[in-house]
Amino acid sequence: MSGAREQFGSRIGFILAAAGSAVGIGNLVGFPVGAAKNGGGAFLLMYAIFVFAICLPVMLAEMSVGRHAKKDPLGAYSAISGNSGKWKIAGWLAIATPFMIAVFYMVITVWIFGYLFETVSGNLDTLANPDTFGLFINSSSIFAYMAVVVGVVYLILQGGVKEGIEKAAKLLMPALFVMLIGLVVFVLTRENAMAGVKFYIIPDFSKLTAAVVNGALAQAFFSLSLGMGILITYGSYIDKRADVPTSAKLVAITDTAVAFTAGLMILPAIFSFNPDINPDELSESSVSMIFTYLPNIFLALQSSIGYVGASIVASLFFLLVFFAAITSLVSIFEVPVAALMDERGVSRKWALASLGSVMLVLAILCTLSFGKVEALTQFASYAGVDKSLFDVIIDVFYETILPLNGFLICIFVIYRWKSANFNASLEEGSSGYRGGWFEKYVDVSLKTFIPAILLVIFINTVAVKYF
Ligand code: PHE
Repeated sequence: MSGAREQFGSRIGFILAAAGSAVGIGNLVGFPVGAAKNGGGAFLLMYAIFVFAICLPVMLAEMSVGRHAKKDPLGAYSAISGNSGKWKIAGWLAIATPFMIAVFYMVITVWIFGYLFETVSGNLDTLANPDTFGLFINSSSIFAYMAVVVGVVYLILQGGVKEGIEKAAKLLMPALFVMLIGLVVFVLTRENAMAGVKFYIIPDFSKLTAAVVNGALAQAFFSLSLGMGILITYGSYIDKRADVPTSAKLVAITDTAVAFTAGLMILPAIFSFNPDINPDELSESSVSMIFTYLPNIFLALQSSIGYVGASIVASLFFLLVFFAAITSLVSIFEVPVAALMDERGVSRKWALASLGSVMLVLAILCTLSFGKVEALTQFASYAGVDKSLFDVIIDVFYETILPLNGFLICIFVIYRWKSANFNASLEEGSSGYRGGWFEKYVDVSLKTFIPAILLVIFINTVAVKYF
């Protein structure tokens, strides 16, 4: 494509788009459940430390690489490394990973949209039935919901960076904040809500095992949309005047604040429905939480606010999660789209149509991997467990390659681009960064323990997951 590179129109537009990417299903459901099960305030504290001490420097690395190179992740790795073949592999990983994660994230977003549609249509009582979810994911309506989700993502992305991504974020993110706060206020005024708040906040440090610590870091890393080339790509749409350190801090704060606030919605809701619940019994995964557990809680509201009232609350919840998921999906899909446009010079429309078709096929295959097609349902088997195509995508790209990508960007910035260049780049547009303690911290941490931790996680995951 010729002409100037597309750009975000304003600083707030960039921050909202990046925050839109970061705020997703992980914040709204994954985080509150993780916190409730794993020590409440102790988990919160540890999570916050991970966000600022480990994830924020990685976020700065990604954003500044993108802004400096003004290219998609593959182009950025090649340009900065002087076309090194080895670093191109890192570039390829940084575009293949988001493409594959987008597939599984899209499948979940389609379910969210389906549940939104069903609650709005007055079928909350059906959704509350524990057998519904299993039938729902294998029903043919899924394909109709998928068409809608793909259509929405397509419409936003074909508008481009400023008129598409930025506009959507400016519309959806404030709406999301308002809905979240409205739901929190509503839930906190229910009976027994304070038991949930207490449970959420009071720390229990004895729950912090090695697995919990590892899980909290993985959650923080995923939540900030790291390791997926997203912030490299979004960073390539801002210029030298943009203040990267401040923007990154604001994104991290927003993301963490939304996650924390979501806990004030989910846990009091659960406790007001069932004051004697033992949190160890809470669903293991966000998926069963959203699609089986929460619809029951919403339905129980009918005794106080009637069926229509309960359906409205449930619809607002699913709309909230849907908005959060759409802005994340848009960001992750923009990465391969930007790569195809930059590397092959094709138009945005063409990139969207071609990659969108491949993505759609993969999403359909995933949908068929929940029992419909044997070869997809038992797609692989490792460590003695049969895995569906959907599971394999999550294991390989989300659980395994994500920390590897994080490791690679740290090493790349410090040792290939060189930390002097990285620091100089971060100082552009940022008045208070130079010479401060934060600059020193980012530099030292990226040189030492952050890549070390990410590498250990990667190796450990490979060893535990596949053998
Ligand atoms: N940050 C998102 C979340 O917490 C994760 C995500 C981002 C997923 C971008 C896909 C794309 O849910």
